[in-house]
Amino acid sequence: MPGPDDSVPIVFVACLLPEAAQAPFTARFNAAFNTSGRILTAAELIAHSAGAAALVVTATDRLDAGTIAALPASIRIIATYSVGHEHIDLPAAKARNLPVIFTPDVLSASCADTAMLLMLGAARRVVEGLELVRSGAWTGWTPLQLPGTEVHGSRLGILGMGRIGRAIAQRARGFNMVVHYNNRRELPAELAAGAQFHASLVGLLEVSDFLCVACPASAETRHLIDEGAIAKLPDGAIVTNIARGDIIDDRALIAALRCGKVAAAGLDVFENEPAINPAYRELPNVFALPHIGSATMLTRVRMAQLLADGLSAFFADQPIANQLA
Ligand code: DGY
Repeated sequence: MPGPDDSVPIVFVACLLPEAAQAPFTARFNAAFNTSGRILTAAELIAHSAGAAALVVTATDRLDAGTIAALPASIRIIATYSVGHEHIDLPAAKARNLPVIFTPDVLSASCADTAMLLMLGAARRVVEGLELVRSGAWTGWTPLQLPGTEVHGSRLGILGMGRIGRAIAQRARGFNMVVHYNNRRELPAELAAGAQFHASLVGLLEVSDFLCVACPASAETRHLIDEGAIAKLPDGAIVTNIARGDIIDDRALIAALRCGKVAAAGLDVFENEPAINPAYRELPNVFALPHIGSATMLTRVRMAQLLADGLSAFFADQPIANQLA
């Protein structure tokens, strides 16, 4: 009986993927998956990586400098099944000469769809509407029933006009929203597609009837949307977050949701998720989703294909299209 083919690289995938998204890995590599049903500890990540040439993690697996330094010598490349990469210490990976690949572009459209869902769900009071229907308390149509905020014609402020921000802008234009953005750099006209640039965050906030947080998480963006920032929003603004929870200061947002300064929030991501601030579970004006921005089956498969392509290119000494560092 032939044994395992030593020329096929061993890849350890630290999370369990849907079956269709496992296929790109199993078809090309000697792939093993974390089937434990839980997030592995750093020690377990290190132990499972023994003998593997590639380690595939996701946003819930923290690869800090200590963990990266302790990875077995067999590991030659790190891949993250995510576009966000704040969980990986890139300088530490570089110091060990480990390239890091990720999943840009393939999930922008599904995340942007979710961002529209957050805006619509928050503005049109979906949580309260669902509760009325499901509880049986709905007594029939009345003009008093759940008046919300109009999405069409409103000004949308996008914080972070990267791939996902631009896909949100494209959809928002279809809703006749007037798009504004703040970004590290002003975009060339063909990418801005009519969206108005604000060099300062305050400038963006002042015109944001809807604020959509779509920037990467970093030390600089932590709690960027704090009490002072929220005070700059128009009264009754809608705040949404499709990026990372810690960009918003929960205490400030919750206070603003309680007093009506912010009419409603649509949140797909949270600080310390899944141990979210309990107020988000209780407030009727919070439309909360469990970090499902990119969660469609097709996107899951495309993310896997992109990582598998990146790994194949790396092992074949070819240029890698989706390399971070
Ligand atoms: C991403 O790709 O960054 C998603 O938020 C999942 O972590």
